[in-house]
Amino acid sequence: MTPSEIIDYLLSEQNRIPDTSPCMVFAPLNIALCKYWGKRDEAINLPVTSSLSIALPTLGTHTRIYLHDEPHDSIYLNGRFVERTTTFATKLIAFLDLFRGNANWRLRIDTQSDVPVAAGLASSASGFAALVLALEAFFDWSIDKKSLSILARLGSGSACRSLWTGFVLWQRGEQNNGMDSHGIPIAAKWTDLRMGLLIFHQEAKSVSSRVAMQRTVKTATLYQSWPLQVEQDLTDIQAAISSCDIEQLGIAAERNALAMHATMMASWPPVIYSTATTLQAMQKIWQLRAEGVAVYFTQDAGPHLKLLFLERDTAHVKAVFPDVHIVAPFES
Ligand code: PMV
Repeated sequence: MTPSEIIDYLLSEQNRIPDTSPCMVFAPLNIALCKYWGKRDEAINLPVTSSLSIALPTLGTHTRIYLHDEPHDSIYLNGRFVERTTTFATKLIAFLDLFRGNANWRLRIDTQSDVPVAAGLASSASGFAALVLALEAFFDWSIDKKSLSILARLGSGSACRSLWTGFVLWQRGEQNNGMDSHGIPIAAKWTDLRMGLLIFHQEAKSVSSRVAMQRTVKTATLYQSWPLQVEQDLTDIQAAISSCDIEQLGIAAERNALAMHATMMASWPPVIYSTATTLQAMQKIWQLRAEGVAVYFTQDAGPHLKLLFLERDTAHVKAVFPDVHIVAPFES
């Protein structure tokens, strides 16, 4: 199936006519504890494996869209106009084109991101999820969350997990048309769980996650072991969530992130997102653990780390990482 065929399947002709006044929507960041790494269908972002994330309800993307009379779509990011030739705008406009077909409406899109974009902080996940929510409101789709998740997935795979708060499983699905590949919220609340963001710089990454993923699947022999790794980590993470076991959760999440980065390092040309600062921070985390503090990390396609710990250890974490930005995923 192509992206346009999926859209035709999920939306009626009536759903293509813009008819509502603009409203602001929000989608949260989601950080994968068991990563999505590798596609079995590049065109419609079907993953090789399932993945599981946690949403950060206080950080994400706020988006508003308006109909306008210009010949092109206009995109504003954090109040600044974005040239149509940039990667950011190209991806967004290509996504809108999927819905536009032969119609000639053009939009102004105002989007605010709470974190730096394209820096390995999951901004594209909340970005595409927010865009889908804005389109839903704008075109009055009235379709279910599962369908919205499938549409968001077409923009950026991990966006299909940003339609909910809390823990979300993205089930890989079995069908070739991708209709069973979407987010599923997990009914669990873990109030003393904390995530700490260690943001080392604001720059965009040099290799996009799409390119890095493709290269890994194509060139890394080590990638063959990735589905096995995911199977074990998903089982452990789901068990840890059921019993609120920080040690089990942390070990599986940290192991999963390191295994993902190992597959990238084993690709050719190699992809290494970690910097000296990333490795120093890892050493500090391992030192804290040696001192008895249950703190673990995960890392996405960028140098930054995201810490996992319990509220009771906040002071220990802050003492070592004074700049950490702490989020309580279940207290908002
Ligand atoms: O959805 P993408 O194409 O931005 O890829 C996301 C990849 C990771 O962030 C590294 C992993 C994940 O599951 O979010």
